[in-house]
Amino acid sequence: MAIEVKRCSMDIINIVEDLERRIFRPSEIYTRGFLEWLCENCSQSSYVAVKDGVYVGYIITCIDRPGQGHVVSVGVLPGYRGMGIGTMLMCSSICRLRGIVESIVLEVRVSNEVAINLYSKLGFRIHHRIPGYYSDGEDAYFMVLNNGYLNQAYSTCQCNP
Ligand SMILES: CC(C)(COP(=O)(O)OP(=O)(O)OC[C@H]1O[C@@H](n2cnc3c(N)ncnc32)[C@H](O)[C@@H]1OP(=O)(O)O)[C@@H](O)C(=O)NCCC(=O)NCCS
Repeated sequence: MAIEVKRCSMDIINIVEDLERRIFRPSEIYTRGFLEWLCENCSQSSYVAVKDGVYVGYIITCIDRPGQGHVVSVGVLPGYRGMGIGTMLMCSSICRLRGIVESIVLEVRVSNEVAINLYSKLGFRIHHRIPGYYSDGEDAYFMVLNNGYLNQAYSTCQCNP
């Protein structure tokens, strides 16, 4: 069965919370209150992926200042990785924000090669390194998708004009 991507909403906050807890380390997860805030304020460009009736991934993307989108969290359950679901989720947010933002930014662990590959494939470029960004002391790359790379992403993602 095909993978379906659905808009995130408060009705499914428990599902998003469950996914987040199964995908990320305990030290990395958000509080329930913050997740609720994100779900309420960023639902326009945040999605869940459903495969064969099972919720398998999610993305939370917010507009954190005029003209700028921010991928706050994206994850896919371990058994469902490498099937294109992460790309579908990223593309859903990128396409949704077309014409609304001029750039999309995110932070990623410098060791997270898979995620860096995913973002690079879509046109994100490393802008700078943030020392000690994560609670365990690891650095982050701040990555940006903007300028001509945005158009490239709309094309890669086959966004409707
Ligand atoms: C990062 C993550 C969301 C990717 O999801 P996914 O569904 O596996 O991604 P896709 O199948 O769409 O693959 C997208 C790209 O990632 C890269 N990728 C996927 N699996 C990879 C692997 N095992 N090794 C290296 N690169 C890989 C490739 O560039 C791939 O594109 P391609 O298939 O066209 O070559 C997923 O691995 C995940 O949930 N990881 C844990 C949570 C996390 O790290 N989130 C990001 C926090 S910033």
